[in-house]
Amino acid sequence: MFEKDLLKNKTVIITGGGTGLGKSMAQRFGVLGAKLSICGRRKEVIDTAVQELKESGAEVLGQQCDVRSGEDVQRMIDETVTKLGPVSVLLNNAAGNFISPTERLSENAFRTIVDIVLTGTFNSSMAAQKVMKENGGGVMLNIVTTYAWTGSGYVVPSACAKAGVLAMTRSLAVEWAKYGIRTNAIAPGPFPTEGAWTRLVPPGLKIEKRMKKRIPLQRFGEHEELANLASFLISDGASYINGEVVTIDGGEWLKGAGEFNDLDRIPEIAWKAMDAMRKKKKK
Ligand code: HXC
Ligand code: NAP
Repeated sequence: MFEKDLLKNKTVIITGGGTGLGKSMAQRFGVLGAKLSICGRRKEVIDTAVQELKESGAEVLGQQCDVRSGEDVQRMIDETVTKLGPVSVLLNNAAGNFISPTERLSENAFRTIVDIVLTGTFNSSMAAQKVMKENGGGVMLNIVTTYAWTGSGYVVPSACAKAGVLAMTRSLAVEWAKYGIRTNAIAPGPFPTEGAWTRLVPPGLKIEKRMKKRIPLQRFGEHEELANLASFLISDGASYINGEVVTIDGGEWLKGAGEFNDLDRIPEIAWKAMDAMRKKKKK
């Protein structure tokens, strides 16, 4: 689908790039020629991911960094510039989440998620912006989710934080375009990862079948599908796309939104009977 050297000479930072979707996107960017800088809080997880990513032949830097700390982030970005060169792309992917009835949340529980997702995206964007501005531009890509605009019960801290990231995406797309920085977002629906599934799919309830039924395409997303979209959006092929959020959810959120979408439960025989009645009445 893509030219082999599509991302050659690009230095791409992926926060939370040691696991799940971040690692899958990193893998694809590496194959397409990018230099990779991944970070996360757990050093051993990052070290293992660096070894795996190097197998594709990519130049990879791994760093321990908590995106909630502006100092940590600044150090991570400085080190990236020193070892790999100016930052071309920042993928804000790190996140925290869990399910809980909202009335059971402590203040610290709410703050923890908002700090990782919203403050973390702010810290990383601020530090990357300085480098990009000095070097004539770059790309910011933020991972949100579809409930950033619909909201969702039981994940209220995450919904609030992702809505904030979406607002930040659209705001900075306008404000920082003058520095040659494009800012976009991707809103994935459910893509199985260990991080998300252990925290969001309650054990023993066997809700996966019901989750798939909510999706018009009747299946979860595959990591490769997300990696394709992200590769396009960070590439020069997308050079006029700025301030957009691209949904990749098999049609899930629209199915929940449309008043009559549940009518796909009506069998063909019932539609035929209604049609016959309508025609008879007209006669
Ligand atoms: C209620 C909870 C809780 C839970 C933690 N807390 N888990 N409250 N229900 N299930 C509370 C704690 O009691 C504490 O508050 C506060 O949150 C901080 O918890 P810690 O465990 O001390 O925080 P920390 O060690 O920093 O861990 C952060 C974390 C953890 C977010 C809680 O899950 C984590 O590290 N997550 C990172 C990866 C992740 O979440 N991946 C999934 C992304 S999936 P008190 O008051 O007790 O101190 C995603 C997909 C969305 O975003 C869309 C899907 C379709
Ligand atoms: P994941 O594997 O748990 O990824 C989250 C990553 O963020 C981890 O590598 C984690 O590493 C890192 N992280 C968390 N807190 C951090 C912090 N304070 N500083 C630095 N790194 C931190 O989950 P995932 O499913 O791949 O999620 C990736 C992204 O996709 C997230 O933005 C998520 O909201 C989004 N998303 C996922 C889905 C889905 O269905 N999977 C759907 C919609 C959106 P450490 O714990 O080592 O720090």
